Amino acid sequence: MANKYVTVTAPVNIATLKYWGKRDRFLNLPTNSSISVTLSQDDLKTTTSVCYSKNFESDALYLNGNEESLSSPRQQSCLKLLRKCRIEKEEQDPSLDKIASLPLHIVSVNNFPTAAGLASSAAGYAAMVYSIAKLYQLDLDRSELSKIARQGSGSACRSLYGGFVAWEMGSLDNGSDSKAVQIAPRAHWPGIRAAILVVSAAKKEVPSTGGMQLTVKTSDLFDYRVKQVVPARYEEMKKAILAKDFGVFAELTMKDSNSFHAVCLDSYPPIFYMNDTSKRIVKVITTINEAYGRNVAAYTFDAGPNAVIYYEEKDEDIVLGTLHEFFGSVPGWAKKSGKSFSVPRKFPIEKF
Ligand code: PMV
Repeated sequence: MANKYVTVTAPVNIATLKYWGKRDRFLNLPTNSSISVTLSQDDLKTTTSVCYSKNFESDALYLNGNEESLSSPRQQSCLKLLRKCRIEKEEQDPSLDKIASLPLHIVSVNNFPTAAGLASSAAGYAAMVYSIAKLYQLDLDRSELSKIARQGSGSACRSLYGGFVAWEMGSLDNGSDSKAVQIAPRAHWPGIRAAILVVSAAKKEVPSTGGMQLTVKTSDLFDYRVKQVVPARYEEMKKAILAKDFGVFAELTMKDSNSFHAVCLDSYPPIFYMNDTSKRIVKVITTINEAYGRNVAAYTFDAGPNAVIYYEEKDEDIVLGTLHEFFGSVPGWAKKSGKSFSVPRKFPIEKF
């Protein structure tokens, strides 16, 4: 039996309607449905190769060049579910190689800071699940794979699809209806762009699972958010995406980022993910939107201080030009070098 390997890439997705709270911590079932935009493969992504061999002593994971433990319950539940599917396939077709029991080596590389609130676990688990499913030649569609990836990291289920993606929370206790679905492919609204402002590449202080648990247990606002705010926002945001209404999409995105950070602050003790630079970014985006009299851009922050700014391609010069004026001294503008942003500023820079 020849050794085989498969390589895949999975992009990061950034939630515009945030998942925050688990109703079942073992199956990773959320307390609310969520929505995200999957970034382009040219931006932030994980590349994962996976290989089986009878010569390997045990399963192993190499992340960004270092061997990492593969023993966490979440990693193990993904591996077990994928192996179970392969065993069923081998039982149905005895001519298939018996590879389900062979050790796997998983080699994964992120082209961006890991665990810094830039959805590295989303891309990481999506790539791991997708690569093993391909290696095992499983006949599972992406929604089925999303249920497996969800058990690694909730938000990973959304990285199985490109474009605009919803994670339907589901209602069943066994999680069989808690899955990702595509709201619209990227081609539906190709003009949407995302700028990622890496405020800090340090690992986040409060990992999302612990943070969520604290919020669910202690925040008074949390119940209001999941019962009153998010269900209505979920429907409105889907509508705005289908109608390509950037103004509404941007407003809902910013409001939901605010609401998520509000329940973090309302946790006891409070969780602070945004820092002073993040707040300055909020002010810059708010000022651009006020100056132009419409929502030109939307900010959103996950479990860390880094910002993702959504905007439409037609407004790229306004958005990137203004951000460049404020944050031009930090590295990372390479793609745009050579292009000057000659945007007439509509507000005095001294305001900041
Ligand atoms: O999937 P996790 O456990 O890393 O949690 C992700 C939580 C947020 O990024 C803050 C929100 C989201 O929906 O992605």
